[in-house]
Amino acid sequence: MSAVLDQHGHGHDHHPTGLMRWVTTTNHKDIGSMYLWFSFIMFLVGGVMALTIRAELFQPGLQVVNPEFFNAMTTYHGLIMVFGAIMPAFVGFANWQLPMMIGAPDMAFPRMNNWSFWLLPPAATLLILSFFMPGGPAGVGWTMYAPLTVQQGPGMDLTIFAVHILGMSSIMGSINIITTILNMRAPGMTLMKMPLFCWTWLITAYLLIAVMPVLAGAVTMTLTDRHFGTTFFSAAGGGDPVLYQHIFWFFGHPEVYIIAIPAFGVISQVIPAFSRKPLFGYTSMVYATASIAILSFIVWAHHMYTVGMPTVGQLYFMYATMLIAVPTGVKVFNWLATMWKGSLSFETPMLFALGFLFLFTMGGFSGLVLSLTAVDVQLHDTYYVVAHFHYVMVAGALFAAFAGVYFWFPKWTGRMYDEKLGKLHFWLSLIFFNVTFFVQHFLGLAGMPRRIPDYALQFTEFNMLSSIGAFGFGLSQLLFLYVMIKGIRSGEKAPQHPWEGADTLEWTHLPTPAPYHSFETPPVVK
Ligand code: CU
Repeated sequence: MSAVLDQHGHGHDHHPTGLMRWVTTTNHKDIGSMYLWFSFIMFLVGGVMALTIRAELFQPGLQVVNPEFFNAMTTYHGLIMVFGAIMPAFVGFANWQLPMMIGAPDMAFPRMNNWSFWLLPPAATLLILSFFMPGGPAGVGWTMYAPLTVQQGPGMDLTIFAVHILGMSSIMGSINIITTILNMRAPGMTLMKMPLFCWTWLITAYLLIAVMPVLAGAVTMTLTDRHFGTTFFSAAGGGDPVLYQHIFWFFGHPEVYIIAIPAFGVISQVIPAFSRKPLFGYTSMVYATASIAILSFIVWAHHMYTVGMPTVGQLYFMYATMLIAVPTGVKVFNWLATMWKGSLSFETPMLFALGFLFLFTMGGFSGLVLSLTAVDVQLHDTYYVVAHFHYVMVAGALFAAFAGVYFWFPKWTGRMYDEKLGKLHFWLSLIFFNVTFFVQHFLGLAGMPRRIPDYALQFTEFNMLSSIGAFGFGLSQLLFLYVMIKGIRSGEKAPQHPWEGADTLEWTHLPTPAPYHSFETPPVVK
């Protein structure tokens, strides 16, 4: 850092202002804020796509969009929510919290950090541009299965390029996170003293480095099949379309945990704070998280029971998948034990954490149901699967992200949000989420297929309910935006300990007081 010292011996860097400040910033807090805002914008874009899907499915028959556009909606809703909304949200948390939690002045590679973020807007632009390509956007599903991807128009090439850029961003972010945690902890901050959030990101960063290149490989093979005469996924040329599914899900299953594990990290900070007790079973939490990460590499074909694999393969993937419930159970029971006999209070972050605990566990149980080969053969590609992973992704990851935003909002902005409106946001989200997705279990059990713009008459009532819930959920998120803007612009000044002594526990291990205000530059460490 090229600081010029003034007469008091303080360092002053040259700081650009206006737009250039955000383009050139290397400050982990600025970059964290940009990740979070980017993620929220993508959340709205992906949300509009979800509502397009739900509008079409409100009643049987085609009325809002044509089938090709509907397929494109399911594709980009998935891609944008996974890569544009959820993952960047947790990278935003990592940027904001990791350096402060381990007592480091910033991330290890601040300029690479800037680059990691600024790769995201071009990738999002490519995804959106594909809507205007001849042949239109790709209607292949977020999994981008061959052979359909090989036959799609040029919109698919933009999607492949976007996936590559998103992967580069994730890998650079991960290198930064691992290096920061391993090299920049304050004296005395041993690995086993780190707040659990740091552990979850350390493990997640390794997962990302392991599997993002696998996804890049899968889409690159698709690209060469499309344009350069290879036949990786074409049986006519000696390849195999099922090969694509193996490669994709070797990335795709760990990806679920790339999203879930940082969410576990946030929950592991919030629940102790609002229980006024240290996290129960810290060491077992670390080992459980690591076990989940390792197991996530050996279960991928539970997404592929119906491709015609040998029974012995089905049995292996079934039992391996069920094993994951063990460390996940350890975590859930540790969170419950943390609350046991605690001095509980129920501000918005804790409400979202409890919503997470209850509904994520339900998503885990429906996952266990789907892990049973004989059952999955019936439920494969039905709305039961859609219901299952939205319990994991929305009530799991998204609720954890809301818990984190409300929890750290005072620390990030120096202001308080409106607690009443925050709670209203929670209750509306909780109710509408369940109205949207709970009924989809029944639709799936009754045999309604996913990714189809129309359906048989007997599914009408539950689909109407689901669509009403979806629009309610979408509108509730505008309330969240209002609460954030109101809090940032005119919220009351936050006290040093906004949660009545609770957040001192969060910082138990921290050797120096954390820098407080969002727009403060980090202290210059000599
Ligand atoms: Cu899986």
